[in-house]
Amino acid sequence: MKATWTLPDGSIKTAEVAEGLNLMEAAVENDIPDIEGACGGCLSCATCHVFVDAAWAAKLGEIGTFEDAMLDATDVERTDASRLSCQIKMTAELDGILLTVPAA
Ligand code: FES
Repeated sequence: MKATWTLPDGSIKTAEVAEGLNLMEAAVENDIPDIEGACGGCLSCATCHVFVDAAWAAKLGEIGTFEDAMLDATDVERTDASRLSCQIKMTAELDGILLTVPAA
């Protein structure tokens, strides 16, 4: 399965992502800039903030209460497309997902 990130400089990076891996872990493994994942995915840092392409956002579950609260603490202001990528696990349905890394 693949995920594609549009980086703050406008360049695009696509990587293979194993099923079940969350997209913060995938970003760190693939040296995606500005996705830090400082808390390891326990919803206490918001350094894994991404904007999810609208076509893919509909396939994600609802934003959880804690994720919603943490999205209010991102460096770059949240939008309707904002999610914390540690909360998105790769599945076959998400193969090809498009994400944008907020410009810090
Ligand atoms: Fe810390 Fe996602 S890695 S909230």
